[in-house]
Amino acid sequence: MQKNIVILISGSGSNMVSIVETAERDNWSKTLNAKIVAVLSNRPKAKGLAYAKQKGIATGVVNHTDYPDRSSFEKDLMHAIDQHNPSLLVLAGFMRVLTPLFVSNYAGKILNIHPSLLPAFPGLHTHQRALDTGCKFAGATVHEVIPELDAGKIIDQVVVPIQDSDTAESLAARVLTQEHLLYPRAIKQFLQYR
Ligand code: GRF
Repeated sequence: MQKNIVILISGSGSNMVSIVETAERDNWSKTLNAKIVAVLSNRPKAKGLAYAKQKGIATGVVNHTDYPDRSSFEKDLMHAIDQHNPSLLVLAGFMRVLTPLFVSNYAGKILNIHPSLLPAFPGLHTHQRALDTGCKFAGATVHEVIPELDAGKIIDQVVVPIQDSDTAESLAARVLTQEHLLYPRAIKQFLQYR
């Protein structure tokens, strides 16, 4: 049976673009029997939506600001996701905290990318915190999503050496370039071996 991948984004969607490009280049529909069937966002202006549309991928927006609370937002988000019969949900810069109810609904089939070497620095401002702590290495982690924020089984990681001259911005940019290689590789690994 074809494995349907649904990607959730909030912002520029550069990780999503990298996943879509890799899927095309490596012919995931043949090699993994997997297809990216939808890109959904909580932000109507997310840049990545236009890219996905242009690639012929279904897109959708569930704008969290239209909802009085997290649970009503998630109810509609789950509805939008479920229309695509997902085998895998990929959070790619999706900037909403998900409730245990949402996570349990897709147990074992949600992946996230976090720009630190987890379990170090869960949460926000990871690069600045790594610099402030004097870390010599930063990186990124792809992990399974569980109710606890930025926790869950690690699928793969990449290490990025920190340079003396680094600012949070320069480090974030170097880590992001590596995220673009890490995320498609981790998804592939997850689909092949889980
Ligand atoms: C990435 O650094 C990701 O690790 C973090 O948010 C950023 C998203 O970037 N969760 P993009 O939207 O994929 O360009």
